[in-house]
Amino acid sequence: MIISSASDYRAAAQKRLPPFLFHYIDGGAYAEKTLRRNVDDLAEVALRQRVLKDMSKLDTSIELFGEKLSIPVALSPVGLTGMYARRGEVQAARAADAKGVPFCMSSVSVCPIEEVVPRIKRPMWFQLYVLKDRGFMQNALERAQAAGCSTLVFTVDMPVPGARYRDAHSGMSGPNAAMRRYLQAVTHPRWAWDVGLMGKPHDLGNISAYLGKPTGLADYMGYLGANFDPSISWKDLEWIREFWKGPMVIKGILDPEDARDAVRFGADGIIVSNHGGRQLDGVLSSARALPAIADAVKGQIKILADSGVRNGLDVVRMIALGADAVMIGRAYIYALAAAGEAGVAHLLELLEKEMRVAMTLTSVSRVADITSDLLVHEA
Ligand code: FNR
Repeated sequence: MIISSASDYRAAAQKRLPPFLFHYIDGGAYAEKTLRRNVDDLAEVALRQRVLKDMSKLDTSIELFGEKLSIPVALSPVGLTGMYARRGEVQAARAADAKGVPFCMSSVSVCPIEEVVPRIKRPMWFQLYVLKDRGFMQNALERAQAAGCSTLVFTVDMPVPGARYRDAHSGMSGPNAAMRRYLQAVTHPRWAWDVGLMGKPHDLGNISAYLGKPTGLADYMGYLGANFDPSISWKDLEWIREFWKGPMVIKGILDPEDARDAVRFGADGIIVSNHGGRQLDGVLSSARALPAIADAVKGQIKILADSGVRNGLDVVRMIALGADAVMIGRAYIYALAAAGEAGVAHLLELLEKEMRVAMTLTSVSRVADITSDLLVHEA
């Protein structure tokens, strides 16, 4: 099988993973409108082709929060990454590290913070959810800070979990889920190691470390299900702002008013995101939400964006729409599930190559020159 894109990796991941895991990654909420729009709206963004400007010297690097990135990309936090490939967080983090881009660990990772940090040279980013169990939040923050994580990504678009029908059908959630997961795992030819489904409990890293006992997938789903916190407001974030010494980024902003609130709150950055279409279906794609948010806060706060980015051209498009940097979720997760660390490394190389093509054909030699001037405004 020839692999030259994220969608090739998606097909390879589908062959390799038991269906409940593939659909957990691939799916979105309700009718999956926003999931599709994220990709389709980006693909519709037309850039101005310019020619004959000597594009032999291109620089794809940027500086973000005092860190140098070889391309303006970071890996989005993705829960249960260590289930898609063995010790998956370590593998993804190492590929990101080698490429010179940040890896953001999800708070619901399989590998604990302390396992990943020593395996990479760059400081890791850490993502936190709002959970009712403030003890978990405090514990995770303390451990992330002690381990030397640089940037805190605080995800605010999941005060409640989205309704994901595929998960109910696939056995990821719902009645008899554990039994259905078990059957899929044991009957799936290429996926047969322990994930808390095979009799041997698997540590779900950060949560196990906090609870002080191994937690398999069923315990984890129960813990998380009981701990989403719809009461959260900006006020509740103040102690975190106080506590966290490094940059703090708010993930899940889709509205210019919320972006302004993030500036007032004193965040260092926002991530324009609809959680990859996994939360409120029907909301704007990130590509469509971004220009108004950039109008409201560009220059006052760093703007990152994710949801729908599948290639290097999409990276350039997101930046032209107003982002300072871009994050990728499924694109690298498919590559990880299909081919581990080497897959993620390859995917990141593809992104850079494709970015270079897009920059050459739009005649911009630096990321700072990728602006809304590049957009074609059709009459
Ligand atoms: C996510 N996302 C996510 N976000 C977060 O803040 N914490 C998390 O634990 C997770 N978990 C998670 C699991 C899976 C399987 C997916 C696909 C996504 C959302 C993620 O960070 C990011 O916002 C989206 O993946 C971006 O959309 P694309 O790039 O997947 O289209």
